[in-house]
Amino acid sequence: MAATNGKAYTIIDHTYDVVVVGAGGAGLRATLGCAEAGLKTACVTKVFPTRSHTVAAQGGVAASLGNMGPDNWRWHMYDTVKGSDWLGDQDSIEYLCRHAPAAVYELEHYGVPFSRTEDGRIYQRPFGGMTTEFGEGPPAQRTCAAADRTGHAMLHTLYGQSLRYSAEFFIEYFALDLMMDSEGACRGLVAMSIEDGTIHRFRAKRTILATGGFGRAYFSCTSAHTCTGDGGAMVLRAGLPLQDMEFVQFHPTGIYGAGVLITEGARGEGGYLTNSEGERFMERYAPSAKDLASRDVVSRSMTMEIRDGRGVGPEGDHIYLHLDHLDPKILAERLPGITENAKVFAGVDLRRQPIPVIPTVHYNMGGIPTNYHGEVVTLKDGNPDHVVPGLMAIGEAACVSVHGANRLGSNSLIDLVVFGRAAGLRCAEVVEPGSHQDLPSDASEAAIARLDRFRFATGGTPTAELRLKMQKVMQSNCAVFRDGPVLAEGVDLINEIWKGSEDVRVSDRSLVWNSDLIETLEYDNLISQAAVTVTGASNRTESRGAHAREDYPDRNDAEWMKHTLAWADCAGRAITLDYRPVHTYTMTNEMHYIEPKARVY
Ligand code: FUM
Repeated sequence: MAATNGKAYTIIDHTYDVVVVGAGGAGLRATLGCAEAGLKTACVTKVFPTRSHTVAAQGGVAASLGNMGPDNWRWHMYDTVKGSDWLGDQDSIEYLCRHAPAAVYELEHYGVPFSRTEDGRIYQRPFGGMTTEFGEGPPAQRTCAAADRTGHAMLHTLYGQSLRYSAEFFIEYFALDLMMDSEGACRGLVAMSIEDGTIHRFRAKRTILATGGFGRAYFSCTSAHTCTGDGGAMVLRAGLPLQDMEFVQFHPTGIYGAGVLITEGARGEGGYLTNSEGERFMERYAPSAKDLASRDVVSRSMTMEIRDGRGVGPEGDHIYLHLDHLDPKILAERLPGITENAKVFAGVDLRRQPIPVIPTVHYNMGGIPTNYHGEVVTLKDGNPDHVVPGLMAIGEAACVSVHGANRLGSNSLIDLVVFGRAAGLRCAEVVEPGSHQDLPSDASEAAIARLDRFRFATGGTPTAELRLKMQKVMQSNCAVFRDGPVLAEGVDLINEIWKGSEDVRVSDRSLVWNSDLIETLEYDNLISQAAVTVTGASNRTESRGAHAREDYPDRNDAEWMKHTLAWADCAGRAITLDYRPVHTYTMTNEMHYIEPKARVY
């Protein structure tokens, strides 16, 4: 028992070989791999596994199967490097693209109910930025789909598979903090059972963070309310940096007002965007790829149309997505989910009416820096690739970096399974099962002190008020287009809100399903990452991928082809920045380095 503030917490200790935090696609694939390798594995998750945000992924998972025409992992690699605007690490991108086909066949064998071609192969649709012949050929049909519910199908299948092995699930446990030792190694995790407030110390040889992105730092996003970047914030509190956080992806087609995703697969199946003049404006911005240019390009084009007075609706502040020309049979077979979502969230029958859409925050390219084995890396004693002992990260929480400055649609689901598998393989290689593990005696003190600080907070500002202020500032000051003064104002405003967190008020002091407390812990996780994001954006004086500076409209490889690293002093509320070089080399000599060039579609 630990007594704080006159209240006692029951502390329960656990020992595992590996503890995975998060049960989305990446977390489940890693859990499965570790357990299959005979490692004693725990998976700690704040929601029931099949409610993880992967369930919301729609359009598909990229892999060069070549089921619909010629394809090749090297073309996929070229597209991903170009999509990343040359900020991606080419060794990691090679790892992703060459392992993608096997990862998809593995999913098929696990039981994912992929849509099928006439001859029974996995159906693949076109997605933005995916081409053939190193960008010289026609669009690639590379995105493997289970109608428009691919993430749902993958998540349920992976959860079922992970139950085949003896992994133990700790469901509805909120991760509080990492347990780091004095040498800087991670020794496990402190978590709290949301159900009864007991504190659990998971001692483990490897802790794998698969906690997803932090989309909820913004006001309008496609991310679930649970996407609060809990892993990234724990890493910051452990004194480690996050990487490339200024790169935030806006998905072109969030439903106007609701933020709900309308898959890029809609445009892959032939959908197109129009402005108030009924013009298919993408033909002007991306003459070759048109509506299937990469997401940053389409989002910027839509924003420019709206700014130039050609937006639709009473306030001229959104764009129309048309699917009303498509065969209703195709819509029913391949896009049933968005047909329903358009009806529920926009009141639109997409077989007859266009859908009102607007670019909406969707994905964080930045995150916890790792190598392609999933091991967390940091800058130490001049070594930019120093491996942090005991700590790993995968999925959207991580920055491998395969997406660089802009992720291509459907490269997220493949990232989850390829690097979830890689992390499992690495653990199997380096972790000796059942080996003894020490735990520092003060391992959970800081985590419990932080918990108590919020649980007994008596300030005057409710968490919801602080959160809303943060979301509105991020939405307006760190948006699709950015410029110096607006970003500088964003830095000041976010810092002010962060400092204002000292005045937070939590009303519920209980330990049983205390959502007031959990939301406060989540807000605290978000605000440090909002600060890192807007500070990094203000600092990066160039345009690259999703980071479009109006005052610095060009990519500047000479000065800025480098990863930003950001540390947060969460007590002092200050950000420090430094850099890591981009890996300008491939993993093997079966593929050459792809030289930077102008990125046009
Ligand atoms: O548009 C979509 O279906 C989203 C896919 C993705 O973000 O990869």
